[in-house]
Amino acid sequence: MSLAAVAPTSPPAVVVEDMHKSFGKLEVLKGVSVTAREGEVVALIGSSGSGKSTLLRCINLLEVPDSGRVWIEGEELKLARDRHGHGKPADKGQVDRIRRRCGMVFQNFNLWTHRTVLENVIEAPVHVLKQPREQAVANAERLLDKVGLSAKKDSYPAQLSGGQQQRAAIARMLAMGPQVMLFDEPTSALDPELVGEVLKVMRDLAAEGATMLIVTHEMAFAREVAHKVVFLHQGKVEEEGPPEEVFTNPKSERCRQFLSREGR
Ligand SMILES: Nc1ncnc2c1ncn2[C@@H]1O[C@H](COP(=O)(O)OP(=O)(O)OP(=O)(O)O)[C@@H](O)[C@H]1O
Ligand SMILES: [Mg+2]
Repeated sequence: MSLAAVAPTSPPAVVVEDMHKSFGKLEVLKGVSVTAREGEVVALIGSSGSGKSTLLRCINLLEVPDSGRVWIEGEELKLARDRHGHGKPADKGQVDRIRRRCGMVFQNFNLWTHRTVLENVIEAPVHVLKQPREQAVANAERLLDKVGLSAKKDSYPAQLSGGQQQRAAIARMLAMGPQVMLFDEPTSALDPELVGEVLKVMRDLAAEGATMLIVTHEMAFAREVAHKVVFLHQGKVEEEGPPEEVFTNPKSERCRQFLSREGR
């Protein structure tokens, strides 16, 4: 069943307003505005190079937008400009706070290869949140159970399948207690038979009311789980709306063409 029937009317968790970002002469985001409410799942779709990853990375300040405004759970990001006119964070303490609030899951998992799964999950809670080790371990064990990885907690990433590594990366993100979850193509590095186990974990998080922004090429998943679909085209929001509308009756011809190329 689509969750869209219960699209939340809760307060906004993430608001992006008129965001611009260039790399050198290449203007990648050309005034993007996106809102995700608390408990809302927003799927970001679009062709390669349309700016999806850049948008996510600008939300948690892995990249700094050049202009525009961003609020995370009501707190506005304080941005300044360097002498080249590029954005820079105005408040280092805020960057740390925003990164803790916005968990991110990457296409290539980004696990520490020389640490076990359990050590990966407790690393940031112990060193960043200063949780007592026993508490971090207990929490990690609970989260590894939730993602179906209890039996692998003492394995190293190289001993796991891609799907298992991505589930470990999701447990690691959850261990920080994020208020907003950002997923950048979490299944596109996986063998097809491993995609389902990762999507199941994400589906469970959505059903629990997590606020999620998901860049994905899994159109069937987006259609099923997202409350809202945002189609980016060449650095702009070309179309957005509930999945039933965007997937069955897109207003934009470019969105229609994109969806037909994606095979839906
Ligand atoms: N750090 C960077 N330095 C220079 N150019 C960059 C950087 N990051 C992204 N770009 C460029 O910005 C454009 C948008 O990239 P982005 O990764 O946001 O696209 P995307 O929509 O996520 O694409 P894909 O579906 O392939 O992941 C691309 O042309 C890319 O080469
Ligand atoms: Mg990308």
